[in-house]
Amino acid sequence: MYSSGSSPTAIPKKVTAPEVRARKGSGPSLAMVTAYDFTMARLVDEAGVDLILVGDSLGMVVQGLPNTMPVTLDEIAYHSRAVARAAARAHVVGDMPFMSYQVSPTQAVESAGKLVKDGAVESVKLEGGEDFAEHVWRIVRAGVPVMGHVGLMPQSVHALGGFKVQGRGDQGASKVLADAKAIEEAGAYALVLEAIPPDVAAEVTRAVSIPTIGIGAGPGCDGQVLVCTDLLGMSRGHAPKFAKRYAELGDAIVAATRRYVDEVRSGAFPSAEQSYKPNRADESGPRVSEQGRVVNLR
Ligand code: KIV
Repeated sequence: MYSSGSSPTAIPKKVTAPEVRARKGSGPSLAMVTAYDFTMARLVDEAGVDLILVGDSLGMVVQGLPNTMPVTLDEIAYHSRAVARAAARAHVVGDMPFMSYQVSPTQAVESAGKLVKDGAVESVKLEGGEDFAEHVWRIVRAGVPVMGHVGLMPQSVHALGGFKVQGRGDQGASKVLADAKAIEEAGAYALVLEAIPPDVAAEVTRAVSIPTIGIGAGPGCDGQVLVCTDLLGMSRGHAPKFAKRYAELGDAIVAATRRYVDEVRSGAFPSAEQSYKPNRADESGPRVSEQGRVVNLR
């Protein structure tokens, strides 16, 4: 059931929110990754991830923005729809973007409903601790599973003065713990812990009955999440300390595209192999000059 990858003929069973919750204690650790489109979602689903998060990180990854603040609910719904079409097994989580839920619990329920109806997500994630427990409670009561997100909450980047590690010192650690407990008690089925010291994350993980999913929170969580472009080595520029690169696909993409550019310019692409049969029976197909150019295409 938890193998990484599935046989091409097997019809995978969807991972549900109650199953994710039940992994607390029983394991194995939950593997979550972000995706924002059909192609990436199909590949990571094939690789056996348990959850795909359509994160508001799409602001940075897809839109080239400096932070997540401008991302809209419609944009999350649009990308979620594409991801949901591809996720045969993985549970699809839609992120609630800035100002799609902060205004009131009623706004939160409406926005969560939109992500389920328009985005085909199976649960939603929102940032916030004690101050947002009522919002979580109301969404859960409306029948939508909620994943919490405490510690570093990127939607509060301006209030925090930057993307800074949270939960430091006794006061910081107590705040993260209180936030986590509030979201658990409000009925969330899982909780993201972002950018907090590993001992604080381990303490929170022991203190709550729902699985914690860490990003920059050390190995003591019940699962881990990474942004797909970090994991695959497609990000350029500064990368956070926790972003382990499992491949260098960015370099591979540049190298492959360079070869394509060279072959287009030299005429080596397309060759007869990539060309259709000629229309006329007397034509044997494109002929290639000594310089490698196709010379008789009509
Ligand atoms: O938006 C996102 O990708 C996230 C993860 C980093 C947890 O919230």
